[in-house]
Amino acid sequence: MIIGIDKIGFATSNYVLKLKDLAQARQTDPDKLSKGLLLKELSIAPVTEDIITLGASAAESILSQEDKDQIDMVIVATESAIDQSKAASVFIHGLLGIQPFARSFEIKEACYGATAALDYARLHLEKRPDSKVLVIASDIAKYGIGTPGEPTQGAGSIAMLVTANPRILTFNDDNVAQTRDVMDFWRPNYSSTPFVNGLYSTQQYLDCLKTSWTEYQKRSGLSLKDFAAVNFHLPYPKLALKGLKQIMDKSLEPAKREELTQNFNQSIIYSQKVGNIYTGSLYLGLLSLLENSPQLKAGDRIALFSYGSGAVSEIFSMNLVENFRQELKTNRLEELDQRESLSVADYERIFFEEIQLDETGSASLAGYDQQNFALTGVNQHQRQYSKVKKEA
Ligand code: HMG
Repeated sequence: MIIGIDKIGFATSNYVLKLKDLAQARQTDPDKLSKGLLLKELSIAPVTEDIITLGASAAESILSQEDKDQIDMVIVATESAIDQSKAASVFIHGLLGIQPFARSFEIKEACYGATAALDYARLHLEKRPDSKVLVIASDIAKYGIGTPGEPTQGAGSIAMLVTANPRILTFNDDNVAQTRDVMDFWRPNYSSTPFVNGLYSTQQYLDCLKTSWTEYQKRSGLSLKDFAAVNFHLPYPKLALKGLKQIMDKSLEPAKREELTQNFNQSIIYSQKVGNIYTGSLYLGLLSLLENSPQLKAGDRIALFSYGSGAVSEIFSMNLVENFRQELKTNRLEELDQRESLSVADYERIFFEEIQLDETGSASLAGYDQQNFALTGVNQHQRQYSKVKKEA
């Protein structure tokens, strides 16, 4: 049975911080961010935006009523959960109006979670080919003001509809996973920002890539010449570029090397303007590749390297389906350019604003521009969401 990704949606906040402004405020050479990290802009989420509003907006942008009637599982992968108990997918299931007889749950392993969710969706569809599974990767990445990770923050969500006979990509069932117990990046329950061993995390990322890639090639019998593109988890694009260079062995023909490099450059376009969105980063890179690469064609095989700190990594591949472009957008860059640009002072105030609850555990929230859904307040410790009414 052919199973894969039928639709991909993306949502981010309507506010952006230009990294040249951040560089100036932090007295850093702007080239360090634009060339050293390969980043240009970061999406900044206000207090009315969270993993629920972003996830629901990303999904709403792709789902038809028929999809909502057929989805029987909603999985949200996140590492910026808003509740220790109730899953984000339950809120999103309700906001989207998905039929009631569905399984909804949240999944976690740093930036890796959505990759496990996709494979679980595949297994589910093998048994129930008429159903559809909604996989959402949703995160807001906050490192804190003045931290080394500050220029790599971001906010956004990717929604993927997994079905039989998909219209974009088919899974090849060739996944190779790796787990190693390391403390490169982690966020204890009492902290709103992560603890990061920055250099060590980059070493772990690159070593997991090297060892997983060796094992993947051994098990699959494939090598880079069999791929049109490699997508990487993108904590910041420069690290992924190092990864690509690391696995391009010297025997690779110059034309293949050029193709992989060009497709890599297309895959980082959106992340360069959004930042790290943790669980969604790899899939934002995939979307960027599919929507921006003019040379991809049906049948092309694409490798994906998923990495979540802690650490779990996985390499797997997918093939492009005939007419895949019909399911994609052509104006996403223009949409990103419509985000409101914030001064550094406004970014610091808006991104790190905390909800101030009164003695009843309530607060009203308003005043920010939203996508399709908004967190409008908290009523006796219950978060309140509503659909945003857009002016015609
Ligand atoms: P840093 O202080 O920016 O490090 O921290 P740096 O001083 O090494 O500079 C970065 C690069 O800029 C270097 O290039 C410099 O040479 C270059 P490289 O040596 O790497 O090729 N540079 C310049 N280039 C041009 N002109 C200049 C200039 N100055 C310097 N003037 C660090 C970097 C990654 C440590 C920091 O951003 C950080 O802590 N980030 C957060 C952690 C992270 O992203 N780790 C990545 C791997 S872990 C992961 O991917 C998982 C994650 O997504 C979380 C999860 O799984 O949940 C993070």
